[in-house]
Amino acid sequence: MEHQFDFLIIGSGLAGLSYALKVAEYGKVAVLTKTRLQETNTSYAQGGIAAVTYAPDDYHKHISDTLTAGDGLCDMQVVEMVVKEAPGQIEKLIQWGANFDRESSGRFNLAREGGHSEKRILHHKDNTGFEIQRALSQNIIDHPNIKVYEYYFAIDLITQHHLGKLVKRYYNDIECFGVYALDLQTGVIHTFLSKVTMMATGGIGNLYHTTTNPVIATGDGIAMVYRAKGIVENMEFVQFHPTSLYNPGERPSFLITEAMRGHGAVLKNSKEEDFMLKYDTRGSLAPRDVVARAIDTEMKASGEEHVYLDSRHADRNNLKKNFPNIYKKCKSIGIDIATDMIPVVPAAHYLCGGIKVDINGCTSIQRLYASGETASTGLHGANRLASNSLLEAIVYSDRAARHSINCFKKSGFKSGIPVWNDEGTTHPEEMVLITQNHKEVQQIFGYYVAIVRSNIRLQRALDRLEIIYEETEKLYIESKLSQKLCELRNMINVGYLIIKGAQQRKESRGLHYTIDYPNKNPSNDIIS
Ligand code: FAD
Ligand code: SIN
Repeated sequence: MEHQFDFLIIGSGLAGLSYALKVAEYGKVAVLTKTRLQETNTSYAQGGIAAVTYAPDDYHKHISDTLTAGDGLCDMQVVEMVVKEAPGQIEKLIQWGANFDRESSGRFNLAREGGHSEKRILHHKDNTGFEIQRALSQNIIDHPNIKVYEYYFAIDLITQHHLGKLVKRYYNDIECFGVYALDLQTGVIHTFLSKVTMMATGGIGNLYHTTTNPVIATGDGIAMVYRAKGIVENMEFVQFHPTSLYNPGERPSFLITEAMRGHGAVLKNSKEEDFMLKYDTRGSLAPRDVVARAIDTEMKASGEEHVYLDSRHADRNNLKKNFPNIYKKCKSIGIDIATDMIPVVPAAHYLCGGIKVDINGCTSIQRLYASGETASTGLHGANRLASNSLLEAIVYSDRAARHSINCFKKSGFKSGIPVWNDEGTTHPEEMVLITQNHKEVQQIFGYYVAIVRSNIRLQRALDRLEIIYEETEKLYIESKLSQKLCELRNMINVGYLIIKGAQQRKESRGLHYTIDYPNKNPSNDIIS
């Protein structure tokens, strides 16, 4: 079945929906999402969204904190632009109906997180993302120009390749004409043609066995662009959140927001020592890469499976008011955060790299934009400052919307696109071949490509991944497509890019720490 839309958006998180609402004034829009509209990383965001609001904070401080966290690899022009456009985009979120907590005076109640020199995080209790997703989803459902396709899995971009033309890697004439997508409820593969496509498929957390990300985060958009020979960069910079709740067997891991540390909670080991001060003068509020590595070191030294977050100093009512979901969640497994220390462990959380985009969200493929966690904009460099990702998504989707509104009229719908051909394929006899490889990928990344890396571990990961790659490609060619099979293939592609990026970076920087090159290479200290 073929569909035609002016604007085609893959993904229904903050990046996809905010772009949809902006372009919908100008043409017909389709939003594809592989599960329900609301099941996104965005919905799980706790701490909030960073923006300069009141003195003594100012743009200079937010820029400087972002650059410090990024460890020399941020793009200065991008950082300045995002920080300065932040307040306007927050205003837009409020107009769409998102509520942020305020003091009785009407001023925003601002929180502080690691790496921030001021209180600048706008939040809605401890479930900011859920509130943003709620507000945007409501506007989307009500919009007459937007059609949402839930349970539609985008398989691949449609490019000249599908018209039988040779497509070379990094060739800047590659064009995106839409996507093939699998209707997960009927098994039928549809052709979606578009004048402009926005890739907003989010992160990759599920490459790891311990992650804060919901199961949707399998790097699909990055893999699609890589296969279409678009440019992907900075994949070695995978951020681990220092404090996910240690609750063996639970997946995704429940996040304990960094805002709790901003509120005075302190990391401790089982001897109740405030160990962070050994590693950084900023203690528990040092940037995430520093904190996650320190926890990893403590756990390896003690042989224990977690450390603790101590919020016992705080008043119970205050904790309940500011962190109601964390309070409730911990209570449900027998932890009273007002009287007990919370067992916490680092978990894969966020990808700083991704599909390379310019300052307007344009990828290296014509008619294709990318925004949100799937994109690499230059804002985060080697390490993202807390709560800068929701911000990046809303700012870049706004810029991409403005750019594509000017461009889409020049493009038509491509004719002659063939329907997806799955002749001769059969349903795999044993799903276990797919599910077991899925688990193996998560083990490989959890053990060999995590917080602390080495040449030997990376090579071992690559060797193991290549075996799984061969098996999966064979299955992909022979089988009727399923979500699990496509996701496994995407995870392998993305995993390959992470390992290759890590092997090529012969230094430790930001989130990429390797025992073979423990120091930074100063010649790479470029802020372009
Ligand atoms: P997402 O919100 O993840 O949306 C991705 C969408 O793409 C989904 O709709 C998914 O179904 C769809 N999709 C993916 N693949 C396909 C496919 N093949 N076909 C069709 N659809 C597809 N950041 C902050 O700034 N502040 C915070 O406080 C914060 N807290 C966080 C807490 C947690 C627990 C987590 C996991 C992340 C947090 N982050 C936070 C990070 C932030 O939430 C994400 O980076 C951001 O929400 C990503 O938004 P997005 O729109 O790019 O992607
Ligand atoms: C958190 O609330 O700690 C997560 C913030 C983020 O990932 O930016």
